[in-house]
Amino acid sequence: MAEENNYFELVAKTFKGLENVLSNELIELGAKDVTILNRAVSFKGDKAMMYKANLWLRTALTIIKPIHVFKSKNEVELYKGISQIDWSEYMDVSDTLSISTVVSSEYFNHSQFVALKSKDAIVDQFRNKFGKRPSIDTENPTILLNIHLIDDDCVVSLDSSGESLHRRGYRLNSTIAPLNEVLAAGMILISGWNGQSNFIDPMCGSGTLPIEAALIAYNIPPGIFRKGFGFEKWKDFDKDLFESIYNDDSSSKDFVNQIIGSDLSAGAIRIATENAKNAFLTNKITLKVMPFEDLLPLETKSLIIMNPPYGERMKKINLNEFYQTIGNCLKKNFPGHESWILCGNKEAIESIGLHPSKKQTLFNGAIECKYQRFTMYEGSIKQNKLIKSEKK
Ligand SMILES: C[S@@+](CC[C@H](N)C(=O)[O-])C[C@H]1O[C@@H](n2cnc3c(N)ncnc32)[C@H](O)[C@@H]1O
Repeated sequence: MAEENNYFELVAKTFKGLENVLSNELIELGAKDVTILNRAVSFKGDKAMMYKANLWLRTALTIIKPIHVFKSKNEVELYKGISQIDWSEYMDVSDTLSISTVVSSEYFNHSQFVALKSKDAIVDQFRNKFGKRPSIDTENPTILLNIHLIDDDCVVSLDSSGESLHRRGYRLNSTIAPLNEVLAAGMILISGWNGQSNFIDPMCGSGTLPIEAALIAYNIPPGIFRKGFGFEKWKDFDKDLFESIYNDDSSSKDFVNQIIGSDLSAGAIRIATENAKNAFLTNKITLKVMPFEDLLPLETKSLIIMNPPYGERMKKINLNEFYQTIGNCLKKNFPGHESWILCGNKEAIESIGLHPSKKQTLFNGAIECKYQRFTMYEGSIKQNKLIKSEKK
């Protein structure tokens, strides 16, 4: 693939619904030609940008570097296309390989078959050139390849992240239904919160939202706790460049407000406390056992973000009552505040009895969820409208 001024194409993959926030993150990082795709954002950058993107992006799952594009309608064309790449540019015989595939094509029925044929083309090239072949390691490969085959368009990419970027490295333990870290960061960025007020998650489970909020508030890179990235095993890895990016803490921020996570379950708070400690955030987050119903406002404004249970383990009637209680508590105790709620149960969220002032669809794993903002007006909405029209 063409490289101009050491700039090359990169693609950051994400969850559906997070493309906009990911694109904003990339623009802020200084990426060029940022373009929103479906569950991904493409951009251009140099090696430093690729390293920064892996370390800093909060809403990317993986960052891939396309290295070859070709047409393929059958296994012969696939084998030929993969063979056109000089693989010794990217790996040695001693490297280990894993191939992930995304296939949506009338010409190929099985993604496993595409992976197998591609692997054959690569190992045959090494065997013919060097008399030896690299081995396959699906667990912990040194080189992770990504093959994207849509219709007859095949894109071969190197995965620069390795293990998915949602694996920050701070969460060693989790409660029953933890949020994916990338989704949690995306929820906070969608709300527009970046430390300007207090942050409260009153059903924090394993603490994902408060921890991601603290990383945002203090501007700590989410990748700082990871053991490593895929690009560190590449032949062109520039250790000095990466170390200078990794050790640069010039953009860290001060934060004067509070971040609070609470939960009904003492076990959840124990796990959240452990996770916060792993992220070196013990003194930056307050975690406590408390039922949501007892939550009261702080002296200064707070944003409340929460991910209540969706009812898999609750009776329907209880669930609707539970969401009704959430709505009542918010209305009664938090006038003048905003709350964002992620819920995968349409009927339950309607029981909340508040009108959403913003909403969008997000996916929590396979569960389609509504992510909604509720604005608890001081006084009734009717009164507020009257005040506004009088001001005009
Ligand atoms: C879906 S989980 C939250 C998961 C969390 N976001 C995470 O990443 O681990 C819902 C949480 O709500 C808590 N919960 C349920 N009812 C509650 C209540 N009345 N007050 C406070 N927490 C409650 C549960 O203990 C559970 O940890």
